[in-house]
Amino acid sequence: MAHTSIRQIQIFEQVARYQSHTRASEELHMTQPAVSMQMKQMEENLGVSLFDRRGKKLSLTKTGEEMSKHCSYIVQAYNDMIEYVDEVKGGKSGQLSVSVASTANTFATHILSAFSKRHPQVAISLDITNRRKILYQLDHFEPDLVIMGEPPKGLSLNSEKFMPNPLVVIAPPDHPLADSAQISPEVLAKERFVVREKGSGTREAIERHFAKLGQKCGGTLELSDNEAIKYAVAAGFGLGVVSLHTIQLELKNLLLVTLDVEGFPIERNWHLVTRSEKAMTPVARAFREFMLQEAKKYTKLVEQR
Ligand code: PGA
Repeated sequence: MAHTSIRQIQIFEQVARYQSHTRASEELHMTQPAVSMQMKQMEENLGVSLFDRRGKKLSLTKTGEEMSKHCSYIVQAYNDMIEYVDEVKGGKSGQLSVSVASTANTFATHILSAFSKRHPQVAISLDITNRRKILYQLDHFEPDLVIMGEPPKGLSLNSEKFMPNPLVVIAPPDHPLADSAQISPEVLAKERFVVREKGSGTREAIERHFAKLGQKCGGTLELSDNEAIKYAVAAGFGLGVVSLHTIQLELKNLLLVTLDVEGFPIERNWHLVTRSEKAMTPVARAFREFMLQEAKKYTKLVEQR
């Protein structure tokens, strides 16, 4: 049996709806003979009679009537499919998988939420994790897009620096160094620190920076969560070095202060990273543009400090 084309199904659906070749041909912008020919071919392909051609009026056979229900269903499903593909191509629908360094969570989740409101058809999968896990995921081509500190070397990546990420020294407001100016790295190194877990990009950056200043950062408490670090510092466990993005509320509410230390803040940047071999989906492209635009607001916030 020769195949019935989707075009023939669409034509039949229109002919059945209007019970007229002429009306269907007008709706479909086809000539009436072309419609009649397609319908004849469809009957031949299927090996059944769809129309009763006795007299002037065109009517559907019993089979034709049953077939018109199937064809309406197929046409509807086909139109839905085309609509979906158009949405995907326009970046309005589809899947988006984003991995975010835990430190970037504060602003990245807000931006993703705004994106999701604008594109409710996009299914977002968000992983908030540390640098080490993100490197693994990038190596395995997992996320569409990554927001992280410094991008790694040795992988073929597209990376865009989009926002500063200054790392500042934090203390409780009643800390003896809270009012000191230009604290030297030597004095700082004598303090106890609350630090992130091994595998954290922030921790690596702090260790590298202390080494550059000829000092070592003595950790007393290791925590894998920026929120927990803030609480521990506020509770007097020791000093912390955290991204300025993560402490806006605490600074405003005077729960924490930043210390004025020589050589600080550590100047880092946030990057948007993708694997260059992995083609970016329209949704990922739409999110990239949205992200770069929205990030400007957060940059202003940090610059005001
Ligand atoms: P992390 O991320 O400290 O949460 O791992 C920051 C970074 O990627 O630099």
